[in-house]
Amino acid sequence: MEEQLQAIQNNAEKQIAEVKAFHELNDLKSHYLGKKSILNEFMKKLSTLSKEERPEFGKKINDLKKKIEDLIDKATARIKENIYFQSLMSSEFDYTMPGRPINEGSLHPLSIVQNQLEDIFISMGFQVAEGYDVEDEFHNFDALNTPKDHPARNLADTFYIDNDVLLRTHTSTVQIRVMEKYKPPIKIISPGRCYRNDKFDITHSPVFHQIEGLVVDENINFQDLSFTMDTFLKKLFGPDIKFRFRPHYFPFTEPSAEIDITCFNCGGNGCPTCKCSGWIEIAGAGMVDPNVFDILGIDSEKYTGFAFGCGIDRITMLKFKIPDIRMLFENDIRFLRQF
Ligand code: DAH
Repeated sequence: MEEQLQAIQNNAEKQIAEVKAFHELNDLKSHYLGKKSILNEFMKKLSTLSKEERPEFGKKINDLKKKIEDLIDKATARIKENIYFQSLMSSEFDYTMPGRPINEGSLHPLSIVQNQLEDIFISMGFQVAEGYDVEDEFHNFDALNTPKDHPARNLADTFYIDNDVLLRTHTSTVQIRVMEKYKPPIKIISPGRCYRNDKFDITHSPVFHQIEGLVVDENINFQDLSFTMDTFLKKLFGPDIKFRFRPHYFPFTEPSAEIDITCFNCGGNGCPTCKCSGWIEIAGAGMVDPNVFDILGIDSEKYTGFAFGCGIDRITMLKFKIPDIRMLFENDIRFLRQF
């Protein structure tokens, strides 16, 4: 009986290996595994064996069935592949031709820099706050201690939508929004779009981007602002960058300063990038004016704070050596593809 099983296996292996079409394979399948197959005949003969022999032979028959099933599965896959290959070979289509290239998008340089700025400040413990592009005079001017007759309020500088409704001229509005909603300690940045009634030229655009920073707590002083700027600028431009505070005036900070960095193009010797001064203006900053706290009902005897506002377009242009701010807004694909 064992020899017979072996002979069946040999035959099956040989026949299944040679099979080329599904109908032949089906015939073999019913021959070896079907109801009236030889293996089933063998099963019936089991009853003629002794009790001891039965389980052993039963197992042998089942093992062989399993083996033949596997062979048939493999042959099925082989025939399928053959059919597919035949159809490829007979088709007019040239499968060896290279495909059409897919154009991959890329981040806009402003987004690249904004993400980087956010990452730096988040690593320093800041949270990201969001404001509104469309604002009112209170958040854009009044609450920021800006006098009613301040020139920035002029139609020539600010886009008004309605009497009291305007497109924010700076991200400092978010300082107010945050202080209205949250009690100190506050440590936020807020990147976003700003609008001013400027004509497009190499360095001006009616829409541009700023990142605002605000830190309010007990005992916050100018040294904290200085340390924060030092850490931030070194993370952004590298360890060799130096900066200076230049006295300035903003209605919402006292004292106020503008921050310049050493020109990384010439290292401070003077070149066209820094207009031969060796310095590049990068931000406005200062200690939050107590008047702002008073307007918002924050105890200005208890709390102090610093704030800063940085031009993202400016930093992007410096980092990528982009000569004209308009390139950031024209969406010329040849320009954008380079990032
Ligand atoms: N808002 C100012 C501007 O648009 C920039 C600025 C200056 C922001 C000083 C500040 C600050 O937070 O403290 O020119």
